[in-house]
Amino acid sequence: MERYPFFLLTLFFVVSSMVARTHCQKQTQALSQLYRNKMKGSSGINKGHFKPIHHINNSRVHPQEGMKEKDRIQMLPGQPRVSFEQYGGYVTVDKSAGRALYYYFVEAQHYSKESLPLLLWLNGGPGCSSLAYGAMEELGPFRVHSNGETLYKNRYSWNYAANVLFLESPAGVGFSYSNTTSDYIKSGDSKTAVDNYVFLLNWLERFPEYKKREFYIAGESYAGHYVPQLAHTILLHNKKANKTLINLKGILIGNAVINDETDNKGMYDYLESHALISDETAYGVKKYCNFSSDNSEISSECQAAIDEITKDTYYLDIYNIYAPLCHNSSLTLIPKKPSVANFDPCSDVYIYAYLNRADVQEAMHANVTKLDHDWEPCSEVISRWGDSPSTIIPILQELMANGLRVWIFSGDTDGRVPVTSTKYSIKKMKLPVKTKWHPWYLDGEVGGYTEVYKGDLTFATVRGAGHQVPSFQPKRALSLIKHFLAGTPLPDTSRYD
Ligand SMILES: *[C@@H]1O[C@H](CO)[C@@H](O)[C@H](O)[C@H]1NC(C)=O
Ligand SMILES: *[C@@H]1O[C@H](CO)[C@@H](O)[C@H](O)[C@H]1NC(C)=O
Ligand SMILES: *[C@@H]1O[C@H](CO)[C@@H](O)[C@H](O)[C@H]1NC(C)=O
Ligand SMILES: *[C@@H]1O[C@H](CO)[C@@H](O)[C@H](O)[C@H]1NC(C)=O
Ligand SMILES: *[C@@H]1O[C@H](CO)[C@@H](O)[C@H](O)[C@H]1NC(C)=O
Ligand SMILES: *[C@@H]1O[C@H](CO)[C@@H](O)[C@H](O)[C@H]1NC(C)=O
Repeated sequence: MERYPFFLLTLFFVVSSMVARTHCQKQTQALSQLYRNKMKGSSGINKGHFKPIHHINNSRVHPQEGMKEKDRIQMLPGQPRVSFEQYGGYVTVDKSAGRALYYYFVEAQHYSKESLPLLLWLNGGPGCSSLAYGAMEELGPFRVHSNGETLYKNRYSWNYAANVLFLESPAGVGFSYSNTTSDYIKSGDSKTAVDNYVFLLNWLERFPEYKKREFYIAGESYAGHYVPQLAHTILLHNKKANKTLINLKGILIGNAVINDETDNKGMYDYLESHALISDETAYGVKKYCNFSSDNSEISSECQAAIDEITKDTYYLDIYNIYAPLCHNSSLTLIPKKPSVANFDPCSDVYIYAYLNRADVQEAMHANVTKLDHDWEPCSEVISRWGDSPSTIIPILQELMANGLRVWIFSGDTDGRVPVTSTKYSIKKMKLPVKTKWHPWYLDGEVGGYTEVYKGDLTFATVRGAGHQVPSFQPKRALSLIKHFLAGTPLPDTSRYD
């Protein structure tokens, strides 16, 4: 299956990789393309600070009576029996444009689900689906067998810790759409934040029992933009209304795009320190490349170093440098023996087949308007991205100042938005250390390392995880989210984990 998304034009400022040729890993290909465009002065992407929309037209929130019941998913095709409820459907975010976002919601599998928080998960791209990645191959309750037809349970699903909401956003991603197709060339960070916010207001009308529930937002990669921007929008409108419209308590972002300059520098330093590129190439990058946000020129010396890096990493999964690749993207008649603990690098292929089945779409209440394109893990209809601030550090600082819990995690085998990038970005915030760097434990082993800063910010690595942390270290990821939601520090002893 050779499908190139719009993001995958010629690569010249980014590391590309083999796996981009299938559906695998398009999430970060999308990111690479965005970075490339942002470096070009001519792309017209606005890199200025995020500007929230202050006035949200009340007419965008509609009564939702009876819609929750209609969204209940009886059973997904090929699904094992479970004891929690699932819902899926559309929420209209702009009636006049005919724009609607698709969500998939799984209630907690826990005897006290009524008291467990509501957690929204967003994937990045921009343009990639939280159903493709988050729900079906990272933290959702099911994974798809290699036959593309049946599902098996993920025993480390995050719905053991929360009621989890997956949203395909913005319109043009996955099953989400707009009847005004010109919306697809007007996408960007600001519009995504507003649509996500309007989605939440309407969704809470549909599921009013969650209105007062503690609410958290989590996401990875380019959701390093979406999550803080949505949080900022929520706080702004709570303040304007002088009441808690949405009971937001905290955010969690992983392998997140935070600050272009440090993200870029950190990536090349990671490749060097992990013996993937030569000292000479690393020196060339340091000497000739300028990652400053207002630099739009790439010197030929810098380009030569980048070309070398592209060659060195071409046959690697740069999003998990020690992982195997997907060598055969055919479905199997008989499902391969599944293993949640050992992530199958061909998972994207199975998910693509599953979600494009008519019976699956019907069961999920998806694609009700019969869209003219396939469901894709990363959008092929969004063709322009209008705004993408070069940094979201000021928003993170504002969220902390407003008392939100802010956690930043990092799978330490990701080479694309690696742990070095995240450390440099956090360093830029100049926060004093509250709890010194120490290993955190799970099952008597080091789950990763953590440092807590005054302010309050928790940084945690997840050992042995690539870009999609819950895919590669599902048990450690579940432990991380439990501690985040409980607001408890990651354990500094192996005695009680
Ligand atoms: C709100 O939306 C309605 C319907 O789209 C429109 O008629 C009205 O002018 C809008 N109001 C404002 C203040 O933008
Ligand atoms: C988009 O158009 C289809 C076909 O006219 C209609 O059924 C659907 O309700 C529209 N979507 C929205 C969100 O208005
Ligand atoms: C906001 O609400 C609080 C209590 O509900 C009230 O005391 C306060 O005066 C309100 N502030 C504004 C600016 O309306
Ligand atoms: C990087 O580029 C920016 C913008 O063009 C420029 O102001 C800055 O001096 C450059 N930095 C270095 C180290 O050359
Ligand atoms: C790929 O897998 C399919 C299904 O298991 C198999 O029939 C086919 O022979 C394999 N192709 C290669 C090149 O290994
Ligand atoms: C929606 O359904 C149509 C008709 O069955 C199909 O051709 C299309 O691929 C589907 N699109 C999506 C996004 O699921």
